[in-house]
Amino acid sequence: MVGQDIISIDQFEKKDLESIFDLSFDMEENFRVHGCSNLLNCTIMASLFFEPSTRTKFSFDSAMTRLGGEIISTVGVTYSSMAKGETLEDTIKTVERYADVIVMRHPEKGSAAAAAKVAKVPVINAGDGPGEHPTQALLDFYTIRKEMRQFPKIKVAMVGDLKYGRTIHSLIKLLAHYEDIEFCLISPKELKIPEEYTKLLKEKDIKFYESDDFGQAACDCDVLYMTRIQKERFGDPSEYERLKGVFVLDKEIMKKAKKNMIVMHPLPRVSEIATEIDSDPRAKYFDQVENGVFVRMALLALVLGKVKLKEKVLT
Ligand code: NCD
Repeated sequence: MVGQDIISIDQFEKKDLESIFDLSFDMEENFRVHGCSNLLNCTIMASLFFEPSTRTKFSFDSAMTRLGGEIISTVGVTYSSMAKGETLEDTIKTVERYADVIVMRHPEKGSAAAAAKVAKVPVINAGDGPGEHPTQALLDFYTIRKEMRQFPKIKVAMVGDLKYGRTIHSLIKLLAHYEDIEFCLISPKELKIPEEYTKLLKEKDIKFYESDDFGQAACDCDVLYMTRIQKERFGDPSEYERLKGVFVLDKEIMKKAKKNMIVMHPLPRVSEIATEIDSDPRAKYFDQVENGVFVRMALLALVLGKVKLKEKVLT
């Protein structure tokens, strides 16, 4: 993967997903035993976030720092020359002169691909509007694989804003490599999953249903993947107000859910998971946060040519 951009889950074959999982696991073990390393010594990551972020930004920063690399960053259009009218392409052609890899989040779908087209260094998509969020999907996959011994024989309920939620889009594409998985796609009818994803599931003969019956899906599933309604994608604020509290996971529902199921969420949550669930051992959303660092350590080391897929990481 040396020099490769990471733009969409489409670019990965099933064997790549398995190898990235193994390498991330290796990164985690290595970190737990030896702590930080010098693997990315003398390399610089440019972090460009033109949309809000807590986890993804810190996760990449932490991954880079734990591998001995350096970070240069800008947050929001206001503090970059894009506020003066510079194009994204010119910004990228400039930033690549300072850095060995670019991590970018941007509000427009397709922006990461546009940046990658002009960049000579690898570009990693940290979320392109309502498009994709491939590294989140890889960390979600890492979490599911670690937690679910019966993988891939699992039922996954995806709940909330399936129309605009980019983590959902990338994760469906990823999990669609495993035909034994069943999907329950739970959303209000206004926020249904775009047709390209149901088409993909049909083509692959993967079992799924679409519904707005949250309670039923929560009780039946092995993985309950909650998402927030994406306020910033709504043209009409009253439409958001109407839909925002539509599904709430609380203790009553958890009582009826399977004993060995897990609850996931890419975070940030608004009101869709009651905080009373946080102490339930089935709640894995803060573990996802930690897992993300190991997966991004693996991805950075791969695109920067410091490890190859299938190779063991040694400190
Ligand atoms: C998500 C995102 O930005 O797409 N968060 C994340 O990266 N962990 C989910 C969201 O914003 O709802």
